[in-house]
Amino acid sequence: MHISILSGSTRLNRQSHRVALALEKIINGQGIHTAGVLDLARYDFPMMEEVLHRHPNPPAGLADFAEEVRHSDAFIFVSPEYNGSYTAGLKNAIDYLKEREFAGKVIGVASVTAGMLGGIRAALAMQQLVLGIAGYALPQMLTVGQVSQRFDADGNVLDPLFEKNIDNFLGHFCWLAEAVTEKKMAEVAVL
Ligand SMILES: Cc1cc2nc3c(=O)[nH]c(=O)nc-3n(C[C@H](O)[C@H](O)[C@H](O)COP(=O)(O)O)c2cc1C
Repeated sequence: MHISILSGSTRLNRQSHRVALALEKIINGQGIHTAGVLDLARYDFPMMEEVLHRHPNPPAGLADFAEEVRHSDAFIFVSPEYNGSYTAGLKNAIDYLKEREFAGKVIGVASVTAGMLGGIRAALAMQQLVLGIAGYALPQMLTVGQVSQRFDADGNVLDPLFEKNIDNFLGHFCWLAEAVTEKKMAEVAVL
């Protein structure tokens, strides 16, 4: 199973990207599934003027991004909380694609704040977004408060107590994503 982690902050000196890097590192380190970060700061998409399949002159990198999404079995959306929701950049990137790129795939959400609260409003809003693109929203979420005390810039976990939260989230995520992916593979095998 290949898992794409959408890192939703494009801010200079962003902190939440640490969480995306950490999840990538942990999943790859487990050696069961592969994971890669789709970094929206690196893609640097302009505000959506038209969806990809109707765009006369798609922005650089958009076709590659769509291809990465298409080939992914499951996703984790990582976003800071901005004014009570997830980032505009995350919504913008997703709006370029067809709903079916995400449909029927398990999507977990991780919200991040510099303060104590962890951004539960962003996490809940992302779960609504997942329903909007016909994904299977994982009920469990990873909320990360005080991000710079818990993760370093390379995505290493600094707070050993927080590792339990990550393990718990990834345990639920992998269970559901594996179940859905295996079911699809079994259906293909019968054809
Ligand atoms: C535009 C903006 C809006 C923010 N809104 C919230 C918010 O609603 N709740 C919160 O706890 N923190 C909020 N913050 C603080 C962020 O949690 C903090 O800046 C965090 O580091 C942002 O993630 P980033 O560094 O990846 O961009 C906001 C920050 C910015 C820049």
